[in-house]
Amino acid sequence: MILELKDLTPAEKQYYLQHVIAPRPICFASTIDKAGNVNLSPFSFFNLFSSNPPIVVFSPARRVRDNTTKHTLQNVLEVPEVVINIVTYDMVQQMSLSSCEFPKEMNEFVKAGFTEIPATMVKPPIVKESKVQMECKVIEVKPLGTEGGAGNLVICEVLIMHIDDTLVDANKKLDQRKIDHVARLGGDWYCVVNENNLFQVPKPNTQLGIGIDSLPQSIRNSKILSGNNLGMLANVHTMPTIDPSFDDNHLKQIIQYYSINPDDMEKELHSYAKTLLESGNPDAAWQVILAGV
Ligand SMILES: Cc1cc2nc3c(=O)[nH]c(=O)nc-3n(C[C@H](O)[C@H](O)[C@H](O)COP(=O)(O)O)c2cc1C
Repeated sequence: MILELKDLTPAEKQYYLQHVIAPRPICFASTIDKAGNVNLSPFSFFNLFSSNPPIVVFSPARRVRDNTTKHTLQNVLEVPEVVINIVTYDMVQQMSLSSCEFPKEMNEFVKAGFTEIPATMVKPPIVKESKVQMECKVIEVKPLGTEGGAGNLVICEVLIMHIDDTLVDANKKLDQRKIDHVARLGGDWYCVVNENNLFQVPKPNTQLGIGIDSLPQSIRNSKILSGNNLGMLANVHTMPTIDPSFDDNHLKQIIQYYSINPDDMEKELHSYAKTLLESGNPDAAWQVILAGV
């Protein structure tokens, strides 16, 4: 299927984009109007765009249905401050409830059962139940259009982060596995980010990886090694060479049993290398592969 966006209705554009640009973190935005009415609403058009200066952006869009604007947008235009509360799994149902279109003077902290605590540098209150809360100054509001579905970028500078002590260790480091973030996908879909679905990919640093194009042809064309496997192999900084001290019984067995049939031997070596890569051992995988090159 190929979609040309100009041929879609606003609702269709929203449907496809929101399912595909996912998961999106949720900005649970607490704002206030000039009269002091507090508002609390979730926005998943949200992300970090700069760390120095510390800038996050979220987007209360014009409603596709009737082109009206959200109270949150009206509030930040009146009082350019916001507290962005991070949503964790234990808050998800109450957070969703707060997204009902309650009248402007109705406080969603009350309707959704959250507790207000005063912020230190801005007027909107903090959601006590959230584990990370950011007090922000709104530095610019940029409308992206005038039709239903048009976003309004609320560009915020983060002034203060409040982080629950249970998330940090003695060295003030955050444990990513503990935050239990909730994120939005398409339609009614959400996901939770926790130990069961997190994994690490070592960052290539200033040293360059050799690149897939530098891998020997037999590795690049392997029917066994996947794109992820090749990505790991090609992330070494120099082409590895055979290490005579590499002593591996399984490798010895493969060489012993399959040396009469080079095709089978290559398959076995690549399968073993794959297992080693998937258990996080690219150096050993290289030694296994080099034994057959
Ligand atoms: C998880 C979640 C994410 C949402 N993300 C957005 C968003 O990014 N932009 C938007 O305009 N509305 C979004 N909504 C809908 C608003 O929260 C909803 O329109 C809300 O009523 C706006 O409240 P307000 O008029 O009090 O500001 C989202 C709703 C939920 C539940």
